[in-house]
Amino acid sequence: MEQMDVGLIGLAVMGENLVMNMESRGFSVCVYNRTVSKTETFVNGRAAGKRIRGAKSLEELAAALKRPRKIFMMVKAGGAVDELIGQLIPVLEPGDILIDAGNSHFRDTMRRTAVVEQAGLLYIGTGVSGGEEGALKGPSMMPGGSPKAWETVRPIFEAICARVEDGAACCGWVGENGAGHFVKMVHNGIEYGDMQLICEAYLLMRDYLQMTPGEMQAVFAEWNKGELDSYLIQITADILGYEDTDGTPLVDRILDTAGQKGTGKWTGIAALEEGVPLTLIGEAVFSRCLSAQKEEREEASLKLKGPAAAFTGDREAFLKDLQNALYASKIISYAQGYALLRAAGEHYGWKLDFGAIALMWRGGCIIRSVFLKKIKEAFDEQPEVKNLLLTPYFGSEVRRAQEGWRRVCAAALTQGIALPAMCSGLAYYDAYRSARSSANLLQAQRDYFGAHTYERVDAPRGQFFHTNWTGEGGSTSASTYTV
Ligand code: 2AM
Repeated sequence: MEQMDVGLIGLAVMGENLVMNMESRGFSVCVYNRTVSKTETFVNGRAAGKRIRGAKSLEELAAALKRPRKIFMMVKAGGAVDELIGQLIPVLEPGDILIDAGNSHFRDTMRRTAVVEQAGLLYIGTGVSGGEEGALKGPSMMPGGSPKAWETVRPIFEAICARVEDGAACCGWVGENGAGHFVKMVHNGIEYGDMQLICEAYLLMRDYLQMTPGEMQAVFAEWNKGELDSYLIQITADILGYEDTDGTPLVDRILDTAGQKGTGKWTGIAALEEGVPLTLIGEAVFSRCLSAQKEEREEASLKLKGPAAAFTGDREAFLKDLQNALYASKIISYAQGYALLRAAGEHYGWKLDFGAIALMWRGGCIIRSVFLKKIKEAFDEQPEVKNLLLTPYFGSEVRRAQEGWRRVCAAALTQGIALPAMCSGLAYYDAYRSARSSANLLQAQRDYFGAHTYERVDAPRGQFFHTNWTGEGGSTSASTYTV
């Protein structure tokens, strides 16, 4: 029987679509699913007449594949992946490649890379973004793991991934062990931020400017022609124009409680671990949490009073400000996300190419946008820059947009409309550009109550002082630490 090019395990919708995508690009695929009836349904249904074959066991799958074997695992993230790896190792041979294309946590991928390499096999943990449609037509792909595996699987990845207008592939080797899944996680965090920012713009239009969904649709459609041109702005315009069967805008019928699967939370945790201020994405995650407390908010709305928002003024001018606020905040969100990538890269020893990562996100995935092209250019020009805000292009873009951004945040604060992401983004911007912060007082407080010591402006860095503030404490100081 013909040996197949690729194996894939896990025939849920993403798995099936990835198989169809690979087959359409000329690769023959052998598939396996734990529940064998699903394999049969797929092979005799969607996959009928194509170079796709089913295997009833992992042994049968292994026997059907060309060496070195290349096996995609598209099973539920978590224990299922470990279980599967445990079952696969005995039926595979040295040099075979296991590819986890699910949404695994990067630390699991780091651990699994070591386990699989120990067994003489190679491992790839790859981010795949773009949802069901992306998996079928071309997702953004972010592979990391055993570097030796990359040249072998590269033709497959580059054949099935998304491409941008000039033909560049939205896929590239990210780095060792968990680097691919880390980058995918930050992608998802950025997605949370982008979505929250759009929702804040919507909230102001709805509750402050009293606009109808149809009017808002027109504004988002217009914004989609400029620097905000992106998949998420485009679908927002579509959503606002969508009517329920009776002609009511469907968006008004949808309950305002957000769900989440946890990748935004992981990004926030990683930022706390690395000591990187990821405030905007953090606010986006917390906003989802607060939205989910619907009943409590309803109770609070009856008890806690604030100003009644009322807009008077030039609506067109305010909308222009809002566009700038959204744009400037988005720059902050990406600057923070990239700062996290930089810190994690240093911590875990990944040589991350930030321009290449921007290209991976340019097409196929949920955050795809024109904006990412500019980010790629900025990092290609200055790969070592510490923060995106310090590049000439984005520095001047924020300078240009900030007046409107400030007016929008000021209006929201005085009118009592919550814009956590836009306002925290602005606070970060102002704190980041401050040569002198308030932490001199903070250090004094820490030294006062805990003898944690401080450094002085008139002494070299690294020299620590303790003051007996009350005259009652001794001169013993606690050891210092920095996060
Ligand atoms: P199933 O159809 O047998 O449930 C998404 O849940 C995919 O992951 C499905 O294809 C599912 O197989 C598979 N999956 C979940 N847990 C698994 C496990 N422990 N071993 C193998 N496949 C698993």
